[in-house]
Amino acid sequence: MGADLRELIEAACGVRRNAHAPYSRFQVGAALEDHQGRIHTGCNVENATYGLTLCAERVAVFKAVSEGARRFTRIVIAADSMELTPPCGACRQILWEFCGDLEVVLVNLQGKQEVLALGDLFPRPFDDAFLD
Ligand code: THU
Repeated sequence: MGADLRELIEAACGVRRNAHAPYSRFQVGAALEDHQGRIHTGCNVENATYGLTLCAERVAVFKAVSEGARRFTRIVIAADSMELTPPCGACRQILWEFCGDLEVVLVNLQGKQEVLALGDLFPRPFDDAFLD
């Protein structure tokens, strides 16, 4: 059985507080649900070289994959922005690789939320279909 949406939102908002974001001060949390209903969380982890920064979404995906999870049902992305924060281009590519046309739920700390399909956010992807 899947986790309920409220639980996923709480997980994303909670892990957001662990963000290591001393440079941007922009904290992001992600909660990725796998097909067994397990929740894999991630926050952004910045680096003094800037370019080595990892977004919350990629941290959540890589944590989940390294725990053996391979099938995913949705991700919640939480940030403290009035305009809801969508995943960056790099994260869209990584999400597509492991999650396909995932349900993406964007939330802010004021309770605003929007549900999107990754396929709409990331049309015409390059993926394994090209490598047969
Ligand atoms: N960031 C994320 O973690 N996820 C997003 O969806 C957008 C951006 C992070 C990367 C960086 O640490 C900070 O937000 C500012 O770009």
